[in-house]
Amino acid sequence: MTPSDANDGSLDVTAFSRTIGVFDSGVGGLSVLHHIRATLPDANLIYVADSGHVPYGDKSPAYIEARSLALTRFLVSQGAEAIVIACNTATAAAAHALRVKFSKMPIVAMEPAVKPAVAATRSGVVGVLATVGTLESARFAALLEKYGGKVKIVTQGCPGLVDVVERGDLHSLDARRLIERYTEPLLKQNADTLILGCTHYPFLAPLIREVVGEGIALVDTGAAVARELKRRVDVELPAGTLVGAVGTVTFYTSGEAEQASRIVSVLWGREVQVQQLPPAFA
Ligand code: DGL
Repeated sequence: MTPSDANDGSLDVTAFSRTIGVFDSGVGGLSVLHHIRATLPDANLIYVADSGHVPYGDKSPAYIEARSLALTRFLVSQGAEAIVIACNTATAAAAHALRVKFSKMPIVAMEPAVKPAVAATRSGVVGVLATVGTLESARFAALLEKYGGKVKIVTQGCPGLVDVVERGDLHSLDARRLIERYTEPLLKQNADTLILGCTHYPFLAPLIREVVGEGIALVDTGAAVARELKRRVDVELPAGTLVGAVGTVTFYTSGEAEQASRIVSVLWGREVQVQQLPPAFA
């Protein structure tokens, strides 16, 4: 069958595709969703922004675990066959619990890109920008232990930066001031490589670049997560997909749907309608 046969209107091509559920505390995970869409264009994607509960960075691990379980249950109820935790903070707090509870399902999680940053630095100092929740987690300590090696790793929690992205406020003076405040101590300690350890931050990369200058490498994990997802679903969900099929992308929020539609449309790069998460999961 050729793609044109598939698209003659008589066949729902999306019914053949794999369905992937993706969630974050808010709109930050859209930075990962862009990579997933490019890597698995035939997959049907369902994205949930938990903007009614953002930020996760200052919440307890138990709270984040409960939210992650509720969102995953919702995504599974919508047909998700694999889950991407597009959030470093939720990975640290809930990846283990999700993998225990949904043990039959591929669950792809993410954490700050310490390994590639350690390989890239020439000054021998790597800076990590992340939420306080991520930086204080046992999982992050284990990551440093495993990949830190002889490199000096300096960390910086960034309260307020997630909220800036949630407002779609990517170029404001407020955003610039926060970025200056958070990057300055890292640069002073001679970091030449900065890890964007929260999925909201890639949306601020142009502003971060303006603040820190050209000589500093910015490292993000979105592309690696999408590659890992493809590797997993190709092996574990090999269901037939049609060559050239284009999957659907559906958006939900636990926050205010109209505001979410406006921000998600900007960050996703085209006009979309975000639906309200049903109250049982919100
Ligand atoms: N986007 C998230 C992360 O990757 C969470 C940010 C937050 O809600 O504090 O860590």
